[in-house]
Amino acid sequence: MKLTIIRLQQFSLQDHSDLQKIWPQADTHALERQLDGQHQLYAALFNERLLAAVQVVITGNEGRLSQLMVREVTRRRGVGLYLLEDTLAQNPHITRWQVANDADDSAEAIAAFMQAAGFQFDAELQHYIHQQSK
Ligand SMILES: CC(C)(COP(=O)(O)OP(=O)(O)OC[C@H]1O[C@@H](n2cnc3c(N)ncnc32)[C@H](O)[C@@H]1OP(=O)(O)O)[C@@H](O)C(=O)NCCC(=O)NCCS
Repeated sequence: MKLTIIRLQQFSLQDHSDLQKIWPQADTHALERQLDGQHQLYAALFNERLLAAVQVVITGNEGRLSQLMVREVTRRRGVGLYLLEDTLAQNPHITRWQVANDADDSAEAIAAFMQAAGFQFDAELQHYIHQQSK
């Protein structure tokens, strides 16, 4: 089965269980209630299971990504990069993306990952930024 990136709006029981594995501290029911046009959630689906997810807040032409997380057993297989790239591709009207600095991994690992995804570190904002070329 193919890896696909989906926008989740209502969670199935399986989604709750998978998201709990991705974000063990999260209250997935509260998260689900927050979702609307501005507050979105994208996840990587493979074999009917969610392997990774990211939260997105859209404000006008700006998008802010947070809690990007790939399940540990699935890391370094391109899932994180695909999730990030496809989330951007599904929101073509967004001209500026920002990634919140809430990393678990080492700074070097995040820097390498964000560079692979085409983001640049803004030292003033202490955030990674991606400007979409039109
Ligand atoms: C950071 C994270 C999202 C990366 O996801 P992933 O699916 O493992 O990454 P990918 O396989 O898509 O990696 C793409 C590229 O990023 C770079 N990269 C990713 N993880 C890396 C690591 N640990 N060390 C060095 N480079 C890394 C590599 O260039 C990699 O390409 P390669 O494997 O061909 O060398 C994942 O490790 C994770 O969930 N970490 C914990 C949460 C976290 O820190 N989130 C980041 C918030 S900003």
